[in-house]
Amino acid sequence: SDLIAANQLQGKRVFIRADLNVPQDDDGNITEDTRIRASVPAIQQALQAGAAVMVTSHLGRPTEGEFKAEDTLAPVAKRLSELLGLNVELKQNWVDGVDVAPGQVVLLENCRVNKGEKKNDDALAQKMAALCDVYVNDAFGTAHRAEATTHGIAKFAPVVCAGPLLSAELDALGKALGHPARPLVAIVAGSKVSSKLTILKSLADKVDNLIVGGGIANTFMLASGLKIGKSLAEADLLEEAKAIIDMMAKRGASVPIPTDVVCAKEFSPTAVATVKAVADVQDDEMILDIGPTTAALLAEQIKKAGTIVWNGPVGVFEFDQFGNGTKVLAQAIADSAGFSIAGGGDTLAAIAKYNIADKVGYISTGGGAFLEFLEGKTLPAVEILLQRAVK
Ligand code: 3PG
Repeated sequence: SDLIAANQLQGKRVFIRADLNVPQDDDGNITEDTRIRASVPAIQQALQAGAAVMVTSHLGRPTEGEFKAEDTLAPVAKRLSELLGLNVELKQNWVDGVDVAPGQVVLLENCRVNKGEKKNDDALAQKMAALCDVYVNDAFGTAHRAEATTHGIAKFAPVVCAGPLLSAELDALGKALGHPARPLVAIVAGSKVSSKLTILKSLADKVDNLIVGGGIANTFMLASGLKIGKSLAEADLLEEAKAIIDMMAKRGASVPIPTDVVCAKEFSPTAVATVKAVADVQDDEMILDIGPTTAALLAEQIKKAGTIVWNGPVGVFEFDQFGNGTKVLAQAIADSAGFSIAGGGDTLAAIAKYNIADKVGYISTGGGAFLEFLEGKTLPAVEILLQRAVK
C-alpha cells in the first residue's frame, strides 16, 4: 500500500524507517545524497497530513552499544533540513521516548547503535513500536535485513505500511521481473561469477538474453572453450557456467559470448589497450572490456528489448580506454524504448559517468537489497508488511 491516507495521519505519531546510509568523505561531508533526496516524499506526505514525524536510519556498521563520533547522522540531519526547508532536530537516546509535535520532524540517531537492532530483538522492537501510531517502512536499501527497525517493529506497531519509495522500488522490480515486456534482457557483469552465481541462475530461468561482462564474461568464455590469456576468471565455476549456457539454450534463450575484446598486458590507468578477436588473445594479456563488434551487437539486442535489467559494468570503465563497452551499452539502454531498471554501486557510477540517469526507467536505491531481489529471494522487511496486511 502507499502511505496511509492523509486524513488518517492527522495528529498521529509516525515512525519512518528510511535508508539514509550515504557515503561520506573523511571530514564527514556527504559525497552522494540520492538516498536522502529519495526519502523526502514520505516525510513530506506525513508532515502535510499533520503527523508528528520520527525518521531513523542506520549509518555504516557500528558496534552495538558503542556510539562513536563517525556513527552520527548529524550530517544527514543537516542535509535533510536543507531539503525539507525546516529544522530537523537530531535526537539521541530515543528508544524510551521521543518528544515530537504534529508538524515537526525529528531524526532519531543511528538505529544500529542500539543493542538488539541487528539481532532483531523483540524487546527493543516493542519499545520502538510503542513510540508510534503508524510505522512506515520506506527503506528499500535495507529491505534484505531483518533488524529491529526493518522487521521487528513491524510486528508490533499498531498500523504499518510501505512508504512511497519502497512502493516505487517494488513496483519497478515487479514490472521488470514479475511481468516483463519481452524480450527481457539482463546485463549481469562484475569481477566474479561466484558473487553473482545465484543471480545468474535465477535470471537464466526468466530472461531472453543474459548479457555477461567483466570477469563473469571471462569465465563464460573459458567455459565455451575460448582462451582468455591471464584474464581474471574462476576456473572452478566452469561447470556452473556451462550449465547456465545449456539451460538458456534449451529454452531458446541465449548468453551472448563476446567475439572481440579489449586487452592489455597490465591492469593500470595507463595500460595500452588493444582491440582483438577473442581467438587472438595471448597468454600474457588480460581482457578488460568487450570489443566494438560485440558492443554493437549487444546494443542492438538492448535497443529491441521490452525490458532491461542492468547490474554491473561490462569493462573496467574507470579507465577510459576500457570504458567503451559500458558506454555503448549505457547509450543503448538510454535509447531503448523498453523499460529499464538499474542498480548497484558500480552501475550507478557508470550511469553518472555516461550521463544517462534521466533515460533509465528506474534507478534502484538498493545495493544488496537490489541484488537479493534479483536472486529471487524474499526481502524480510517486505515480507512482514505483507503478513501484517493479510491479518
Ligand atoms: C546498503 O548500503 O546496501 C544498505 O544501506 C544496507 O547496508 P548494510 O549492508 O550495512 O546492511
